[in-house]
Amino acid sequence: MSASTKFYLTTPIYYVNDKPHIGHAYTTIAADVLARFYRSRGRDVRFLTGLDEHGAKIAERAAAEELDPQVFVDRQAEVFLDVWRRYNVSNDSFVRTTSEHHKRAVGMFLQKLFDKGDVYEGFYEGLYCVGCEKFLTEKELVDGKCPDHLRVPERLKEKNYFFKLKKYLPQVTKAVSSGAIAIEPEARRNEILSLLSQGLEDFSLSRQSVKWGIPLPWDPTQVCYVWVEALQNYISDVGYGADDAGFQKWWPADLHLIGKEIIKFHAIFWPAMLLSAGLPLPKKIFANGFFTVDGRKMSKTLGNGIDPVELSEKFGSDAARYLLLSQFPFDEDGNIEKERFVEKYNADLANGLGNLVSRTTQMIEKFLYGRVEPLRDLVYDRPAIERRIQRLEFFEALQDIWAIIQQGNQYIDAQKPWEQAKNDAVAVKRTLGNLVTLLLDVAELLQPFLPDAGARIRKNLEQPIQKMTILFPRV
Ligand code: MSP
Repeated sequence: MSASTKFYLTTPIYYVNDKPHIGHAYTTIAADVLARFYRSRGRDVRFLTGLDEHGAKIAERAAAEELDPQVFVDRQAEVFLDVWRRYNVSNDSFVRTTSEHHKRAVGMFLQKLFDKGDVYEGFYEGLYCVGCEKFLTEKELVDGKCPDHLRVPERLKEKNYFFKLKKYLPQVTKAVSSGAIAIEPEARRNEILSLLSQGLEDFSLSRQSVKWGIPLPWDPTQVCYVWVEALQNYISDVGYGADDAGFQKWWPADLHLIGKEIIKFHAIFWPAMLLSAGLPLPKKIFANGFFTVDGRKMSKTLGNGIDPVELSEKFGSDAARYLLLSQFPFDEDGNIEKERFVEKYNADLANGLGNLVSRTTQMIEKFLYGRVEPLRDLVYDRPAIERRIQRLEFFEALQDIWAIIQQGNQYIDAQKPWEQAKNDAVAVKRTLGNLVTLLLDVAELLQPFLPDAGARIRKNLEQPIQKMTILFPRV
């Protein structure tokens, strides 16, 4: 693969019924780390994130605020964009499902499925949870309520159009089992294979009772089911039906990054629809784990949520990114203890990294007048860390980077350059030459995670080197 190979990376598009949630920030920051990493390796990256703006849930919320739904989603889009700016998210594009180009692409895509003979009229009766924007079975309810949204689902009974999912299940199964679509982590792949082996029913792709959506081209009395059109953001944004050259260049996606709760939509429904439309399948789907805060699912009533804006204001954007990705492995569920943020910030950023940078640059300035010849006697496995980033092992990669930082700090303590400076000019140059190399490596490895600090350290290591001002003040 040549260095300039394209890399098309997406996050889920988030519902705009509320302000951005720390879980949205988690997946988006992870995607940003990858985008920055691949750009630094010379790949032609397109990083897409955006918003899911149609459907009953959003219409309901707009009505509650007595706003026209379009006015409401326009306002919410600004709120999301503001948060992503605060977090230095380097997305190349931002898709909104109420945009004209998305609506047009959806119309064309649906017509393709219809013309293929993969859509039929039927009657649907079921329990619909507006919070989930999906039908639930009786078995999924707890005390008659949706366990995630704690609300009683509505019984819907209406004419719908159905998509012939069953027709495509053998092909989807083959794509997943052969690895043509890579699903990671392994547990999620097994979950999908097991769902596929149990068999699934055709799904309804329209809604009669919902008004806030994209009308079906062949029957404008119905709108497209919000999940069906949401998935199409991944193609509408790269020019499906409008810009063939752009579409050919970017599609298929190299990676759909999502949370594990929406894997079925991405790994089964989406590939089936793409097959029907005759389009290539995404290369990889990676589902991150879910986190709880202080041992509980985040909820407004418990008040244990973490507001992403507050977090970035308290610690700064780099540190907030670090605190989120350094908690537990990305592919696993985990728990975040809010109380431990300060401790971790002080230990890893203010002390660990901060000390290494300030001690090293201060000594180079003081003992060598800012000039040092880089040396490479210290041993650590930088390519292994880069491979971890490519495998989305962010937690492990950060641990390994901090092991290098510790190695640097221990090297200083063992070599005592302040003593070498008094009686051994060769030794002090060697020590600081090795440290400057180590620090540059650390800064480069960290830059996707801590874009500001990484760039500042690298800039500060341009000769003549001066003592660096404090990177992360103690909190
Ligand atoms: N709009 C749909 C996605 C459509 S994609 C074609 C949706 N939106 S959402 O607003 O509910 O965002 C869900 C995503 O937010 C998850 O898939 C995950 O990426 C992220 N997370 C939300 N809560 C999270 C945690 N508690 N932990 C980890 N990720 C979390 O579903």
